[in-house]
Amino acid sequence: MSGSASVVVTGASRGLGLVTAAHLYRRGWRVVAAVRSPDAGLKRLRDLTGAVSDDPRLTAVRLDLDEPALVVEAAAEIVAAVGAPDAIVHNAGVAAAGTVEELPAEAWERLFRTNLFGPVLLTKELLPPMRAAGRGRIVILSSQGGIRGMATVSAYAGAKAAVERWAEALAAEIAPFGLGVTLLVPGAFTTEILEQTVSYADPEGPYGALTTPLEKRGRRAIRLAAPPERFAPAVERALRERAPFARRAVGLDARVLLHANRLLPARVMHRLMATAMGLPRPGSLRGTVHPPSGRPSISG
Ligand SMILES: NC(=O)c1ccc[n+]([C@@H]2O[C@H](COP(=O)([O-])OP(=O)(O)OC[C@H]3O[C@@H](n4cnc5c(N)ncnc54)[C@H](OP(=O)(O)O)[C@@H]3O)[C@@H](O)[C@H]2O)c1
Repeated sequence: MSGSASVVVTGASRGLGLVTAAHLYRRGWRVVAAVRSPDAGLKRLRDLTGAVSDDPRLTAVRLDLDEPALVVEAAAEIVAAVGAPDAIVHNAGVAAAGTVEELPAEAWERLFRTNLFGPVLLTKELLPPMRAAGRGRIVILSSQGGIRGMATVSAYAGAKAAVERWAEALAAEIAPFGLGVTLLVPGAFTTEILEQTVSYADPEGPYGALTTPLEKRGRRAIRLAAPPERFAPAVERALRERAPFARRAVGLDARVLLHANRLLPARVMHRLMATAMGLPRPGSLRGTVHPPSGRPSISG
């Protein structure tokens, strides 16, 4: 990679974004970390990479995807710093847990704002110079939830599925200008995303029999999750991709899901997912009554 190629990494303050930004820096990229707290984010990146404070290959801009005016400002700062970026990695994201009945409207709004509307606006702002340059790769992080809707993460799955369709449409529009899009579908990686995820699930509510075992399984699955450092090389490969559009799974679990989803009928996938997640059998909660304050009882 030539030392001058620039990449904007959103959410580079921790998790997959932090290790990705550090990896790309070490591989010779000029990295712009787009983060909510640039000073703290840059310090973490310098600690991780050993970069000196005046290294022009490692800079940061303030980006809050929930604030459209700040997104526009961040894009202007990026262009002022590096011109048309050679690449963007849309990594920043948030999740929320709870069934459809439990998730409040604000959670849906927040998830769509941070995971979809913010990245769309940032892209819209950066596209004119990238299009004029006639080159550029946009890498977008999806999720297994974006491939199959899963119980208790409907808002997250909905936002990531929307990201998937957005990415496909975007790729079709910008390919004629020499630009390309890669969707990455990560498997499970150990980051702080779960600790940061607000849960609206009520263990005493009507869905307690579904959400409580699911949470336990989730915690067990986390122990099998891969370290985030294993994710970063996949981003670098995605940045080198030349096809106008590509979707790549990162990790065995994501690869299996993508293949199964391609091959199996929806009905079979639904059953397999429900079994894998240990969900109660269809109809098995029929007739359970939940008094507002108490534990469930079986009605007549
Ligand atoms: N980890 C996994 O197993 C996994 C699996 C599938 C998909 N993913 C996807 O991978 C991406 C990274 O996840 P992660 O696991 O690394 O999560 P994480 O550790 O929670 O990091 C999330 C990042 O997003 C940033 N962010 C959150 N809200 C933001 C906002 N409004 N504006 C700007 N930045 C914001 C955070 O910044 P602050 O530090 O300022 O909060 C942080 O840098 C997400 O898109 C996630 O959906 C992760």
